[in-house]
Order: sequence, then structure tokens, then C-alpha cells
Amino acid sequence: MADQRENALHYAHGNKENFLNSFKEILAIPSISTDKTHIPDIQRTAEWLAQQLRTLGMQKIQIFPTAQHPIVYGECLDVADAPTILVYGHYDVQPVDPLGQWKTGPFDPTIIGEDIFARGASDMKGQALVTLKAVESLVQTGGLPVNIKWLFEGEEEVGSPNLERFIASHTEMLACDFAVNPDSGMIGREYPTITYGLRGLAYFEIRIYGPAHDLHSGMFGGVVHNPANALAELIAGMHDDMGRVTLPGFYDKVRGLSKEERDELARLPVNESHFLEQTGVPRLYGESGYTANEQTGARPTLDVNGLLSGFTGEGSKTVIPAWAMAKLSTRLVPDQDPKEVHQQLLRYLEQNARADIRWEVIPLAGNPASISDRNNQGVQAMAKALETVWGKRPYFKREGGSIPVVGDMQRLLGVESVVCGFGLPDDNVHAPNEKQNLPTWYLGIDTYIHFFLNLKP
Ligand code: BES
Ligand code: MN
Repeated sequence: MADQRENALHYAHGNKENFLNSFKEILAIPSISTDKTHIPDIQRTAEWLAQQLRTLGMQKIQIFPTAQHPIVYGECLDVADAPTILVYGHYDVQPVDPLGQWKTGPFDPTIIGEDIFARGASDMKGQALVTLKAVESLVQTGGLPVNIKWLFEGEEEVGSPNLERFIASHTEMLACDFAVNPDSGMIGREYPTITYGLRGLAYFEIRIYGPAHDLHSGMFGGVVHNPANALAELIAGMHDDMGRVTLPGFYDKVRGLSKEERDELARLPVNESHFLEQTGVPRLYGESGYTANEQTGARPTLDVNGLLSGFTGEGSKTVIPAWAMAKLSTRLVPDQDPKEVHQQLLRYLEQNARADIRWEVIPLAGNPASISDRNNQGVQAMAKALETVWGKRPYFKREGGSIPVVGDMQRLLGVESVVCGFGLPDDNVHAPNEKQNLPTWYLGIDTYIHFFLNLKP
């Protein structure tokens, strides 16, 4: 009997067209989790995934309703003595605005050159399909070499508000040896990557209230504190000259970087010029004393994500707005606690907001950072798979983005995640013209085929 590895790879290479068609199908469903008008699309995507699991011969397939968007589960536990791997994915996507900047319809998947363009192509319908199509290749060529459980959520892009409770109340169903999480990317096309750290998040809306209603800025300019000015002053005060965040106590629990880790991060093949290229800024900015890789992966930050106040239409209108609003978030590192950061923000405003305005803080998403073990069986199997496919040892990186479930699984299931996906830095995730590089996507499928086979006892 021929080797299953060969057969499964052969199957994958012979079914590229079919795999791509599935990919286009799921990309065409606008499963935007922030937007209530897309609830039917969210439901359709969940059903699409359940159907995929059915086709793969999975058992106990269920769509679990939650307070918001459903969770899809399925399993196949037929291989005695083999490890059980929990595969995570999220099927929701970010909103598409500004729609005018898309060159093709965000839900009309379009191939241009080597890339497929659509919202969710990289983050992360593409990565979810990598795991599904790798498993299909194994199922069609002799069966799974390991036991698999699937967990797909529809709320990752809004901070996974219901997932923690779901995991806590289904610990037996989700019990596993370790998890794999492909909701991630590579540091560059030539650089296979395993992500071992993710930042946490504490997200807020700040509202500043001034006069009871908008005022003529000539009649009243000079006697009232303009809420937009006040908000700008408060935000400006949140960083000092060294690029450090000034919320009281913000750095108290920040875990420092060891010399070894700094040396390792310094060896990554991306550096300042990579960030200049990817962003188009004239010059980088950040906390002094740290490299760009450290600033994004291992240091906490604070950013305004949105601002709203006053007149923003065409032309000019002389007005003092009655209120101003900012969406503001902090990215956290171990061992910061999002709830404590909320208190720190309140304290900052108590100390710095003047009595001539009123303010309010509404906490939105929050999750702590996570660091994963780099030496377990799963990481070893993935490192070997990446080396087989790319011909070089993978790089280990700390990611600046957040995937709340990785920490949830550590705390609630006591399991580590192998975080490895095939997005690229220029995929425009969360931005117009999101894409997935297709040659990289196919190599990703090969990688997961090797990964599962490497775990065969
Ligand atoms: N897949 C991303 C996280 C990510 C980004 C991993 C870039 C690797 C590279 C994830 O879907 C995401 O965007 N998460 C949100 C989480 C938040 C809403 C809690 C994020 O990081 O902003
Ligand atoms: Mn994602």
C-alpha cells in the first residue's frame, strides 16, 4: 500500500480547483459579526461549515446558539491511542467600510494574479479552509491519523464575548491533548512562522459632554470648554515624550523581556524597513528603547481607533459641538489585566479631566494576552511540517494582534495552542482589498496534511 502522505498530497494537488471553489463559496457569504443586519448570513455560514463537517464524515455535529452568534462543533474520535486535536476557527469577518476603497466587491471573491480578494480571505476563512481541506485529503486517502474536534465561532472579530462561557460549560466535550489555531500568518512569504505570543486587548468608548446642545462658536467660543478640544487634550496626554502610556499603573504588571528572548526576536528576518514598507509612514514611532518587533509583539500600546465630534460634512460650519466621542483601545502583554486597565483609564480621567466637562467610559471588548509553550508535541509536529514544505526551520514570533481563545483554552481546558496560519503581512486584513495569496494557501494545506500525519503514533 502506498504511503498515505503521498496519497493525501496527491489528492490535494489534484483537487486544487475544487478547494478553490469551496473557498469562493464561503467568501461570498457576508458574515460580518458587528452588524445585526447580517445575522442571517452568520447563520448561513455556520450551516455551510456544519455541512463541510458532514461531508468529512464528522460526528456529533451541532450548531450551538449563544447570546449572539452560533458555535459550530463536530468530532471524529475513531483512532485509538492517537492524540486528540482541537481545531479552532472563526467564520465571522470584519466590516467592509470604507466600501469605496475596494477595487472588487468584498463578497464577490475575485482572483487577480496569485491572490484572491474578498473580506475574510486571509482573516480567516482562508485559514479555516486550510484545515478543512487538509483533513478532506486525509479522509479521502485512508482516513484520519489522529482524533479531531472542531470549534468554529462567529464572534472573534467582536472579542469572543460568549466563547469563554461556552468553553467553560463544555470542558468535557472540548477535552483534547492540544489545540491548533490557524487564525494567524507568516512574517513573509518565504518565512514559515509559528506564533507563540499574542497581545491582549482592552477596548473602550470615551464620551465627553459639554454644552447642553451645539453652540455658535462665535457667540460662545471663549466661555465654554469645547468637548472636542477637551477630548483631544486628554488623548494627547495619554503618551509621554518617550512614547510611553501614561495611564497610572499601566506598566506595573508588564512582564519584561529576557535577554534570550530579545536576542531571538532580533534574529527575525523583519525589521524597521519592513514596517516602513508595510505602512507607508515617513518615519516609525514608538516606545523608545525597544525594536519594532518588540514594540508590536511584546510591549503594550494605546491607540485611538475612531473619533467623532462636531461638523464633518463638506464646507465649514462654525459650531462648538455638544459632545465628542473616541473609540480607544490598549493592546496588552502578560501579565496585564484588562479590568485593571479599565480602572487605570478611569483614574487617568479623574486626575486629568477638568470640571468644565462631563465624561463617561464604556468598556467594550477585553481579553488578556497569552504566551504559548514552544516545545510540546504539537509545536514539534508543526515545525517539522513547515520545514518539510518550505525547506527551512520556522520562525517563532510574538504577534501584536489578539486571539482571545488561545488564553481561554489555557485557562479553562489547560491546553496549549499551536498558532500557525498562512496570511501574509500585506493581506490588508481589517482593511479594504483583503486578500489571500493562493500559492501560499495551497502550501498551507500541504503543511497541515504533514502536521496531522506527523502526529500519528
Ligand atoms: N486573526 C486576527 C489576529 C491576528 C492578526 C493574528 C494579525 C495574526 C496576525 C484576529 O481575527 C483579530 O483580528 N482579532 C482581533 C481581536 C479583537 C477584536 C478581540 C484583533 O486583534 O483586533
Ligand atoms: Mn482572525
